[in-house]
Amino acid sequence: MGYIGVFDSGYGGLTILDGIRQRMPEYDYIYLGDNARAPYGTRSFDVVYEFTLQAVKKLFEMGCPLVILGCNTASAKALRSIQQKDLPTIAPDHRVLGVIRPTAEVVGQLSHTKHIGILATEGTIKSQSYNLEIEKLYPDCTVVGQACPMWVPLVENNEFDKPGADYFVRDSLQKLLTQDPLIDTIILGCTHFPLLLDKINQQLSQLSTLNWLRRAKGSQPPTINVIPQGQYIATSLEDYLHRHPEMASRLTRGGTCQYLTTESSTKFRESASLFLHEEVNVQHITLN
Ligand code: DGL
Repeated sequence: MGYIGVFDSGYGGLTILDGIRQRMPEYDYIYLGDNARAPYGTRSFDVVYEFTLQAVKKLFEMGCPLVILGCNTASAKALRSIQQKDLPTIAPDHRVLGVIRPTAEVVGQLSHTKHIGILATEGTIKSQSYNLEIEKLYPDCTVVGQACPMWVPLVENNEFDKPGADYFVRDSLQKLLTQDPLIDTIILGCTHFPLLLDKINQQLSQLSTLNWLRRAKGSQPPTINVIPQGQYIATSLEDYLHRHPEMASRLTRGGTCQYLTTESSTKFRESASLFLHEEVNVQHITLN
């Protein structure tokens, strides 16, 4: 079997897997969530790298010649080292792809004001990966980032649609818009955040109306588009497989999906159904 592996620290990568499977349901997939050690967002570079490498090796062992890091934090902190340092020795014919570059490639085309905001974990924001990638591809764009340290715990603990989440969503959005009021495009640079999309849009419309009233500029409040990554990662992967038929031919097409977690499989099954709206079969594994 040749599976496409999708890895995340927890449940967030399911938003990426969902986008990919909607576009390419024919392939066989393995999803691995390192839920027992999530969140990764506040962990050091070395720890995120070590944990991500363990997960990648496990997915290789399970029969995945291609692994997608469906996690921005791992893409920011571990992808380059794995691609350049580890792959040539451990599996030169395997590939590991991340989610930051494919997102950066489209974002410059989506903004009219050329002012872009990134919402992500502390680790991703501190790495400056989005700023570097977007400004390299679109030198006319200004990029500012805001860490949202409470958002992953809200999602991992199923609190994302509860009234208590409103405060934390509003607080981070306000901090982002204060840094740059001309932002018209916000990237959800963490795969957990699409679950907060309704709250984000709700709070954003209140905040931008308020800012517009204060500044009394323009004929109407500016529209801010919030961009989840899933669809762009799916398009980018499809394009990658067209450009790499030697990899596409190693992947089997039975339309299956297996789920692995480092936490309890019962806990994963309950929470995953909130992301995927279907019951899933889950196997517990250990990483080391
Ligand atoms: N879902 C991960 C990301 O996209 C991070 C979650 C975490 O902090 O573990 O960055």
